Order: sequence, then structure tokens, then C-alpha cells
Amino acid sequence: TDGPERGVWRYREALPFDLGVTLPEGDTPLHRVPRIEEAVGVDALRIKHEGMNPTGSFKDRGMTVGVRVAKELGVGALACASTGNTSAALAAYGGRGDMQTLVLLPAGKVAAGKVAQASLHGARILEVDGNFDACLDIVQALAARGEAYLLNSLNPFRLEGQKTIGFEILEEFYADYGAFPDRIVLPVGNAGNTSALYKGFRELVQAGALDVDEVPKLTGVQAEGAAPMVEAIEEGNDEIRRWEEVETRATAIRIGNPVNAPKAIPGIRNTGGTAVAVSDPEITAAQRHLAAEGVGVEPASAASLAGLKKLRRSGVVGDDERVVCLTTGHLLKDPDAAYEAGGEPEPVPNDVDAVVEHLGD
Ligand code: F0G
Repeated sequence: TDGPERGVWRYREALPFDLGVTLPEGDTPLHRVPRIEEAVGVDALRIKHEGMNPTGSFKDRGMTVGVRVAKELGVGALACASTGNTSAALAAYGGRGDMQTLVLLPAGKVAAGKVAQASLHGARILEVDGNFDACLDIVQALAARGEAYLLNSLNPFRLEGQKTIGFEILEEFYADYGAFPDRIVLPVGNAGNTSALYKGFRELVQAGALDVDEVPKLTGVQAEGAAPMVEAIEEGNDEIRRWEEVETRATAIRIGNPVNAPKAIPGIRNTGGTAVAVSDPEITAAQRHLAAEGVGVEPASAASLAGLKKLRRSGVVGDDERVVCLTTGHLLKDPDAAYEAGGEPEPVPNDVDAVVEHLGD
């Protein structure tokens, strides 16, 4: 059933409703990765694989709450700008809630699996000749004109659902290891998750369920070609400078104007975390590394592990730390990037001897 005891809705006391428009979402695995843990050189490393949600990304946790709110408001049409995953989740949850969905995508910059999902789940898809930030500008204007209800992470109810990532990490890590993690490393696009995790942890501290010094250090990772948050953290600024030109193979985080930065920057600072930028080759290497241990993620997700490796090399992360890397989206979201990183199939003749000969090469 759509029972409230599962996943995100297990945490209904921390959410604005008791049950949402659900598929259901959450309860994602916290993988042990002993070989990567050894290679990185930390006390403990776990991978929280949000790609295992119903539409293959963490966005489902936000949509189950956001679409529920839209229902409460009696809204008929939902909209978002997206680098892909939000559009897939909006289309699926909007469909389940029997609402119209409209998505604005940056033309040519969204991974194939994500557009396919938005399409089949019934969204009306507009491809904008511009990057994600331009799409978000337009959809905000549409929402302001009353054309549709906005379900980007600017919508605070989305972030309420995404708080549960942090709750699950604490519970699962504690059950596995007997202590809380020192640090959570996560990819940053619009900085919604960074803000959401920080809010969730603050609420736990206020409720007396977590000591303030037990809050994991929030550590954000961006691609070098789209790193305005890293720039702000490094320069000690409270506001980000919008990057007009952005590029990275991790298209999910190809974002120059992280709209949740005002909430995320204090989260990084006050938890003692940091932010780091990684190159596309570093992202590819981390994606391969995770895949070799059976964990299939899209490029943006691998940025978290790539960032951790870099921070270990520079000594910012110590060898005694207990770390969770968040992987935000599933490998199948971006099949083209997977082939690129993994290599193409080898054509062979329909003949055993020829195949044996080919294998011997
Ligand atoms: N990882 C993946 C796979 C994403 O799809 C996104 C954001 C992020 C990380 C960044 O998360 O915004 O909370 O910092 N994707 C949005 C979208 C922008 O439209 O799907 P954030």
C-alpha cells in the first residue's frame, strides 16, 4: 500500500503532513565499499545511494511532499526547470497525483534517461535555448504569473522531504558502525540538499536528539566548470557570484546560480565543512571506481567521491574520519556518460572460433 510506515513518511513528525503522494520513496541503501574505503584511506566510508529511489534520484523525496502540498492547495498544474532529474520526478509524482506537469530543460544538456522519463510520465517538455539557470528564471516568472505551481528546490516543501536523507544516514550509519559519521560529502548544484540536510540536523539538535558537535561536517562538491559555491566558500563570501558560462560532463550539476546558496553556505560553515571543485576526469575516475564495486551512479553523483579523494590527498580530510558520500542519481540516468566511462561493446562475428580468437587478442 501507500502506507506511511515506509521511507520518507516514517519521519512524518518532521514533515508538514502525515502522508504524501507516494510511490514510495526513501529507504535507500547505505553501501559498504571496502576496497574504495581502503584506497581513499579513511576509518569508514559508506555510500548513500539515492539513485535507488523510484525514479532514480533523491528528487523523489522532495516531490512526495511538494506534490502533496500542491494537492492541498488545489493546484492543477505543476512546473519546474531542470537539469533532468527534477523533471523526471515531477512528471512521475504529478502523474500519480493526477496533475498536469510542465518542465523546462536546457536544450541538448539533459541526459537521455531523464528526458525519456519526463516524456513517458506525461510531462509537457519545453527545451530552452539556454542553460539551467535561464530555465529557472523563466519558470519562476511563469509561476509568478499564476501559470503553474513551482516545484524546484526554491519550494521549501521539497526540502522538507529531502531532510530525510540526513535522518536515514544517521540511523543507518549508527546501526552499522555504532557511531555517527563525522562528515557527509555531497554534490552541489542548486544546493538544495546541503540546505535540507543542515535544516534537518538543526531540528534534531533543537529537539535534543543530537548534540551540536555530532552534526556531520557538510562538505559540498562541484564540477570545476560550474563551481560558484566553491568560489564563495574559498573567498569567504556570504553570497555567490552567478557564473554565466558553465560546463561539465556532470550535466545534473551544470548550474551557475545555486539558488539555495544563502541557506547552504551557513550549513557548510557552521558544521565545520568545506567545498571543493573536481575536474571531469576526476569525476569519471570516481564513477568507474564506484561501478567496479557494483554501485552504478551518474556523473554528478560520482563528484562526491571525487571530492573526498581530493580532500584526502590535500589532508583536509583525515585518515581517522568516518565519511558518507551521497550518490544522488542512478547510472541509467545517463547511458551515454556510462559508455564514455566504461567503453563500447566489441563487435565479433557469429562464430565460436572467431570469438575465441578475438578474446585472445
Ligand atoms: N546530483 C544530481 C544527480 C542532481 O540531479 C542534482 C540536481 C544534484 C546532484 C544537485 O543537487 O541542487 O540539491 O545541490 N539536479 C536538479 C535537477 C538541478 O533539475 O534535476 P542540489
